[in-house]
Amino acid sequence: MAKEKSVKEIEDLPGVGPTTAEKLRTAGFDTLDRIATAVPADLSELTGMSMDAAKKAVDAAKQATTLEFSMATEVYEKRKALGRISTGASGLDEMLGGGVETSGITEVYGKFASGKTQLGFQLTVNAQLPIGSGGLDGSVLFIDTEGTFRPERIESIAKASNLDPKEVLNKILVIRAANSDQQILAIERADKTIKEHNVKLIVVDSLMSLFRAEYPGRGALGERQQKLNAHIHKLQSLADTYSLAVYITNQVMDNPAILFGDPTTPVGGNIVAHAATTRLYMRKSKEEKRIIRLVDSPSMPEAEAVIKITPNGIRD
Ligand code: GTP
Ligand code: MG
Repeated sequence: MAKEKSVKEIEDLPGVGPTTAEKLRTAGFDTLDRIATAVPADLSELTGMSMDAAKKAVDAAKQATTLEFSMATEVYEKRKALGRISTGASGLDEMLGGGVETSGITEVYGKFASGKTQLGFQLTVNAQLPIGSGGLDGSVLFIDTEGTFRPERIESIAKASNLDPKEVLNKILVIRAANSDQQILAIERADKTIKEHNVKLIVVDSLMSLFRAEYPGRGALGERQQKLNAHIHKLQSLADTYSLAVYITNQVMDNPAILFGDPTTPVGGNIVAHAATTRLYMRKSKEEKRIIRLVDSPSMPEAEAVIKITPNGIRD
């Protein structure tokens, strides 16, 4: 019987030649671990491999990866040590288990003017507060895809938190991404900046607007989802590697399949839905009031919190 070749790289997987390997990497499946945990149907959809070949590749990747078990107590200690950024509203913090969590992606979706960007500004200021006072004493990487970053608004929010507005602005690295390639590159090349500046929060406002504009129609959907998948995996890996928080805003559409109740659905499909650790749905209420629903969380029950967008920022 022929001895099986030991699998060390993606190219060593059965049925995976250089072209398929390249496609897998482009779609964010850049390690054996990632392929081992992938759903074969996703691999097949993203690379054009047959279902059979995808299954075989996943099986081989599973066999090649080694697993280390951790004691539940260790996991518990790690989770308790997760940093959190206060949202400015204690009710919302409580609903989130203490604020926006590090090492994960928090997504807020909602209609225009629901307050997604405003919450992003508040978190941008609060991430700079001292540890123990609602912050992480870090700086912020702000990817602005819609041209809605407002330093003057940051200034008011900072003043209201008794912080020096100039110092706060100096700790925000803003990138105005004009197209999705710039958005992707900003994150691809972020490692050095994150280390040098002690970045503790990455804001992407918004995740999907450029992708939606550049890949219209069903024909472009496959390519769009491939790029999006890789982008969002990179965000998750930065969150893990540097114990930082990722806050992304997302647009919505009306899902015609929902006949009763609120048809508002976030865009981006399953790729975004699976990647977001915590999903929040924000909607307008009376005047400055906003209702935020916790739609998906690994540790907290579904709940709602009411916040206000005040001149000083987000409050109860
Ligand atoms: P889109 O990006 O259009 O999808 O909306 P969004 O969800 O990002 O909304 P955004 O966060 O921009 O919220 C807009 C709302 O915030 C406005 O309708 C105002 O009610 C409120 N707002 C914006 N700027 C200020 C401000 O300087 N002071 C106060 N008090 N409220 C503000
Ligand atoms: Mg906005």
